[in-house]
Amino acid sequence: MEKSNGLRVVLFPLPIQGCINPMFQLAKILHSRGFSITVIHTRFNTPKASNHPLYTFLEIQDGLFEAEASTRDTSLLNPRLKPNVSLFSTVSRSNSCEAPFRDCLTKLLQSETEERKQTISCLIDDSGWIFTQPLAQSLNLSRFVLSTYKVSFFVGHFVLPKLRRERYLQPQAEEFPPLRKKDLLRILDEETEVLDSYSDMILETTKASSGLVFVSSCEELDEDSLRQARREFQVPIFAIGPSHSYFPGSSSSLFTPDQTCIQWLDKQEDKAVIYVSFGSVVNISETELLEIAWGVRNSDQPFLWVVRVGMVNGTKWIEAIPEELMERLKEKGKIVKWAPQQDVLKHRATGGFLTHNGWNSTVESVCEGVPMICVPSVWDQLLNARFVSDVWMVGLHLEGRVERDEIERVVRKLLLEPEGEVIRERMQLLAEKVGRSVKQNGSAYRSLEHLVDHISSF
Ligand code: UDX
Repeated sequence: MEKSNGLRVVLFPLPIQGCINPMFQLAKILHSRGFSITVIHTRFNTPKASNHPLYTFLEIQDGLFEAEASTRDTSLLNPRLKPNVSLFSTVSRSNSCEAPFRDCLTKLLQSETEERKQTISCLIDDSGWIFTQPLAQSLNLSRFVLSTYKVSFFVGHFVLPKLRRERYLQPQAEEFPPLRKKDLLRILDEETEVLDSYSDMILETTKASSGLVFVSSCEELDEDSLRQARREFQVPIFAIGPSHSYFPGSSSSLFTPDQTCIQWLDKQEDKAVIYVSFGSVVNISETELLEIAWGVRNSDQPFLWVVRVGMVNGTKWIEAIPEELMERLKEKGKIVKWAPQQDVLKHRATGGFLTHNGWNSTVESVCEGVPMICVPSVWDQLLNARFVSDVWMVGLHLEGRVERDEIERVVRKLLLEPEGEVIRERMQLLAEKVGRSVKQNGSAYRSLEHLVDHISSF
């Protein structure tokens, strides 16, 4: 770490894995540049403070833990389940966080003034925390908005309320490229009017902020959308990612990664393994579990498959898989509850990634040059998947067909056939391009330098 610069940054992540990881990546970067770090966090999905002994952690009583999460049942976070339309809105609309956060931040600023040890330069929190902007303003504190989405989704999703109002007029896919019409209808279907006002609030509070930070994107992945974002938001915009490239490793994992994955991968051939994972939020049905199981087994390729506890609706783990099939799966694959994903994607044996296309997973796969099979479930995943399959052409799209024959076919195509080889070569080129962006003088690196200078000036 560089010598302390006497400045402290306060971070407040949304409590889900896909938002905690990027926030902690930003924390590591800023800490390495001399900033002290304070993390304010909910009791729900508490980050592991022991992994970050140099940061200060302050827990707020959020009411979420007591009210909703008597178990660490991630199905609570399933965007398909209503009324938890999505965790983003559930948490962020939760008034129960607002007062504890305000008290915590106010005390922090008071103690800073009294002790005169360090200056709090700014608050950085997730775009989903819509109550923090007016609070920061009232406390005269600069607030930066962190977005974990792809820039094109963040910018584009604000047109959804308008499209929904016009949905009976048959929205056209060109209104949100490269989404196809069927994707758009799916997004509009899963969303509710409640989220329209939430989107409006995100837009309003972001426009009033001191700046917008995309931690997992860069010019190479989002050039046009960044131009559009700069036009629309008129606040400084920083695209500093893929931020995990600066400090690889996943010490902000809420779950314990099963390290035996790596020993298992060590025994496999180069680029032979299909890695299957749907991130930290998406749930699947029993039928989908069995179709995936049959599909990967019938492809006859080795596979490493993450099934989180509670991920299969109505069951505990994988007990829905009959014994006979389980025996056959063991011949070719390994099923774990949580994997060290970045290390898995980096491993020479990993040849493809069957993914839900959460933005972190998508970017991690791009950075390691691993082509994808896209099975998006909800929300931004549909857009990310279209970029992978239709724009960058570095993956194949299942088009919603979670069926054994289809899965077998695409896995074999990606890993064994010439078309898969062409996709892999394109992915390699994209990986190199994105990799250059985080090197000195690359676009993301320069943006990060601007961010550090900007925060230091407060
Ligand atoms: C959520 C939303 O679902 C997603 O659409 C949005 O883009 C980000 O927030 P999540 O579903 O958890 O995220 O997916 P993703 O963005 O891919 O993040 C998952 C993170 O968990 C990745 O950083 C991945 O490396 C990590 N992970 C996942 C593991 O470390 N091990 C695993 O076994 C699975």
